[in-house]
Amino acid sequence: MEKKWWHESVVYQIYPRSFKDTTGNGVGDLRGIIEKLDYLEELGIDVIWLSPVYRSPMDDNGYDISDYQDIAPEFGTMEDMDELIAEAKGRGIRIIMDLVVNHTSDEHLWFQEARKSKDNPYRDYYIWRDPKDGGLPNDIGSIFSGPAWEYDERTGQYYFHLFSKRQPDLNWENPKVREEIYQMMNFWLEKGIGGFRMDVIDLIGKEVDKKITGNGPRLHPLLQEMNEESFGNYDVLTVGETWGATPEIAKLYSDPERNELSMVFQFEHMTIDWDDEEGKWRPKPLDFKKLKKVLSKWQTELKGEGWNSLFWNNHDLPRIVSRWGNDKEYRVQSAKMLATLLHFMQGTPYIYQGEEIGMTNVKYESIDEYDDIESVNYYYDKIENGYTHDEMMEAIWKNGRDNARTPIQWNDSENAGFTKGEPWLKVNPNYKDVNVNKALEDEGSIFYYYKKLIKLRKENDIIVYGDYKLLLEDNDKIFAYTRSLDREKILVIVNFLEEEAEFNLPEDIDFNEKELLISNYEVAKEESIDNLNLRPYEARVYRLK
Ligand code: NOJ
Repeated sequence: MEKKWWHESVVYQIYPRSFKDTTGNGVGDLRGIIEKLDYLEELGIDVIWLSPVYRSPMDDNGYDISDYQDIAPEFGTMEDMDELIAEAKGRGIRIIMDLVVNHTSDEHLWFQEARKSKDNPYRDYYIWRDPKDGGLPNDIGSIFSGPAWEYDERTGQYYFHLFSKRQPDLNWENPKVREEIYQMMNFWLEKGIGGFRMDVIDLIGKEVDKKITGNGPRLHPLLQEMNEESFGNYDVLTVGETWGATPEIAKLYSDPERNELSMVFQFEHMTIDWDDEEGKWRPKPLDFKKLKKVLSKWQTELKGEGWNSLFWNNHDLPRIVSRWGNDKEYRVQSAKMLATLLHFMQGTPYIYQGEEIGMTNVKYESIDEYDDIESVNYYYDKIENGYTHDEMMEAIWKNGRDNARTPIQWNDSENAGFTKGEPWLKVNPNYKDVNVNKALEDEGSIFYYYKKLIKLRKENDIIVYGDYKLLLEDNDKIFAYTRSLDREKILVIVNFLEEEAEFNLPEDIDFNEKELLISNYEVAKEESIDNLNLRPYEARVYRLK
């Protein structure tokens, strides 16, 4: 595959609402991001994925856009946005925008017009159906609970919404919709952005009458058209949020010959502990061998034919250190172990804000302390159906999206230095212990570990381009693999558990020299690696020659 800058980049996701407030309104803003660019430069990232900052009634915190070419006043102005792009560029950082085009807000002008009458010129921008037998057109459900159809009195038809009823789905079959979207994308590309993260892009090829939502037949032709009409003319990164992707599907999106996207952002490794029926709300214990299998499958099957993202976190997922690490006595070691495991794989790494200091999940007692529309809808929906408050909170503590959305903990002052006002979502009470200032003062911190991981990727082509091989497939504590390029090998060894684990080097790995690249415990340089007694969550990476 032809080498691209985004093969070698590390992306940092910002959820602007929770990043840094400079006005005292309790909500993070663009000027807050500009203020912290030096911090991100210090970390060494190349790209910022900015969750939506467009004008929006914020029913789903900006994933409900009412004007794609304007900035939400609580986040700032278009001048701030231009300044952010320029200031980032000055530090070698590109900004990629969140492209949310499966749906708009119900306050978007197009929808306001569309709902006025059946013959309104914007009517077909959305998906409308007559009632069937006096009720819903069909039984497709909304991802945010309840039916995906909302009855609109004024015209006596239902409109389709896969998310909240304030997020009506756009009709991608309408060429006018597509044209408007491509124009809007070009508006942003002309501003010099570094690309797009495409929200639930796998849904745009839907055929609602056949009850097909994800991976519909029109999906890939639509992406090829989008590529041709907009970003294909620029050297940018495009990453699709692609929930239902298999490696085969991922190649359709990201094989460079097909002119669709740069890479996929798929979740197979993130759903291993979800229940088959109730999904994330009833998680089961992690099947560790399956995790090895899934991550390894993506490493080998995409090789040379597509490109993947590497991530443990985003604004929709719980904090990884609380989920699969240990957010108490081994917080630092386990956060570093998880980072090691991921950052030596092939793909583009994504760091979600706060991950680099080991931020953790939260446990608030009352549902009123939560903001996330998905968690709140789910809570009331289930309580109505006989579930108890305790059961519901247990589920939300584990997998609710607000775990990732609490404000960034900058220091140990009031509200963790995030705001001078009342934060829109309560700050995690552990901010006196876990905060950026503290991390920057401690050379053994998670922050400096991430910094080193990023630097190693920059200095070693083998991490970007080497061949992957899983070792010790059946070991139920250790995740070990090699990357190989020319005569060199990188050996990654991590103990995934809190108990000690014995590592035996497979016999077919021979080398003359070894060099320790990174580790999360002190390691004696001369120690042989034939047999190791790994400490809780221990991680080591060697270069072998
Ligand atoms: C996926 C986004 O990541 C999530 O936060 C949002 O709620 C839905 N798409 C709807 O836009």
